Amino acid sequence: MYELSGKPSTHRVSTSDDIEVGTYLEIAQSERAGASAQPSGRSPTKTQSIVVIDFGSQYSQLIARRVREANVYCEIIPHTAEGQILDEQDVRGIVLSGGPGSVYEPGAPMVPGWVFDSGVPVLGICYGMQLLAHQLGGAVARGTAREYGYSVLRRIGLGGGLLDGLDDSVPVWMSHGDRIDETPPGFSVLASSEHSPIAVMGNGRGMFGIQFHPEVAHTPQGAEIIRNFVYGVCGCQGTWTPSNFVNDAVEHIRAQVDGGRVICALSGGVDSTVAAALINRAIGDRLTCIFVDNGLMRLEEPQRVRDLFARNLGLKLIYVDAVERFLSSLARVTDPEEKRKRIGNEFIRVFEEKAQELGEVDFLAQGTLYPDVIESKTSESTASHKIKTHHNVGGLPERMDLQLVEPLRYLFKDEVRLAGAELGLSSEVLNRQPFPGPGLAIRIIGEVTAEKLETLRACDWIVIDEVKRDRLYQQLWQAFAVLTNTRTVGVMGDRRTYQHVVAIRAVSSNDAMTADWARLPYDTLGRISSRIVNEVPSVNRVVYDITSKPPGTIEWE
Ligand code: XMP
Repeated sequence: MYELSGKPSTHRVSTSDDIEVGTYLEIAQSERAGASAQPSGRSPTKTQSIVVIDFGSQYSQLIARRVREANVYCEIIPHTAEGQILDEQDVRGIVLSGGPGSVYEPGAPMVPGWVFDSGVPVLGICYGMQLLAHQLGGAVARGTAREYGYSVLRRIGLGGGLLDGLDDSVPVWMSHGDRIDETPPGFSVLASSEHSPIAVMGNGRGMFGIQFHPEVAHTPQGAEIIRNFVYGVCGCQGTWTPSNFVNDAVEHIRAQVDGGRVICALSGGVDSTVAAALINRAIGDRLTCIFVDNGLMRLEEPQRVRDLFARNLGLKLIYVDAVERFLSSLARVTDPEEKRKRIGNEFIRVFEEKAQELGEVDFLAQGTLYPDVIESKTSESTASHKIKTHHNVGGLPERMDLQLVEPLRYLFKDEVRLAGAELGLSSEVLNRQPFPGPGLAIRIIGEVTAEKLETLRACDWIVIDEVKRDRLYQQLWQAFAVLTNTRTVGVMGDRRTYQHVVAIRAVSSNDAMTADWARLPYDTLGRISSRIVNEVPSVNRVVYDITSKPPGTIEWE
């Protein structure tokens, strides 16, 4: 992937779990648009890497993140992939992920032959270990030792490099039904646990199997085991660092764009911001950013984006005031999907018009992230039920005949933030909570009007203000207000009122796929409520949404 140089950095990637979601549709679209044929960030020279072969584990992305936290580049490929990655990269090690299956099930995924032929060190985790045992002549016992959760590993012998520096008994996290009953020829037992006599095995030639999960936080010495594997066993050099991946991405954007011109739709979110800053560093004013003010943003948001890009970053920015257009296309629309559709279509129309005024443009920049790329490659089910149509810049590349520049295509969210910091963006910009493309329109139940937007903006401001004041902003995935279409009777200064009900929504989440309602302190909720009813005319009642996702979604529409 990236050809990296320079000294290994001591800077460690953060282990924060907050993967932001918001680009659900971009992947399919970028794949269709042929982005995968020549994505930016691809290096013509070979990069040292560790490859994770995915057998359907819920932790595969976590394995890759842990390897990258050790400053070694890591990619995930499906178990059906052929061995071409060995030609494309300097693959130093292969990790076989866990998976939900049993090696005895009909059609159970197997380790492809090229892995064994490669001569590269292999680490099989859980199901990956069972596959090694099964395919190399050992024995796997079915469902005899269900072991879920905390367990203690007891080392036997030296550990073959994998367990170097670890204590004699190591707390680990297990999650398996089958277990290894017999090691394959040439393997010896390196550690056992209460229910897994063969919890770690190795063959003395760089091939290991481990029954537990070193990638999860519940295995406290997991990072050390991964470092032992990537450095001690595989001989990697630790060149995957923020400054290296920024420099390298810049080089590759230059190579891909090659004198062409790029446009980028800015949303104010982290991904498009970092993508734009990176491309700006690479090609300067051959990048033009377009920021469409749709009138559905939060208080002061359009001004904030303009200040950041035009003033602070010196980026070429076209600001489009399209407030009237969006509001008139939303007039009398109450159906949530219809709102989303109209906003998406209007955005595409405005963007196209502005782009045409620019003349010849060759590329469209998108902030696609690595988890989206993995999802699209490894997901078996493409027919999942549509809950909402997410709005983003998808659809534009085909219509406008543009190639994609995706400088974040190989980065996890935490790496995007590190790249942003490396580019000089402030932590306030980099740690913003996600905000949906259709903006406040999907937080106003019923028709969207300028008056309702103004009401909601004022409520939203108070929510964020109070949440920040109590230092809860970074801990929450999102916190916001929703303007319901219910009015209730109230009493203010001895007078009857009949005004709007505002709902407060605050959730914690790792990836927005699931979320829990946040247990905000009563004091915080109390201050939010009294400020809203006191400061925002036309609201006389505040309620708190205590629904998790599922069954609710994060946004109300
Ligand atoms: P839901 O409401 O589906 O939201 O639980 C999951 C996450 O996605 C955000 N969201 C969007 N982001 N375009 C986006 O870029 C959209 O159309 C969109 N709709 C919802 C939402 O804020 C939450 O973080």
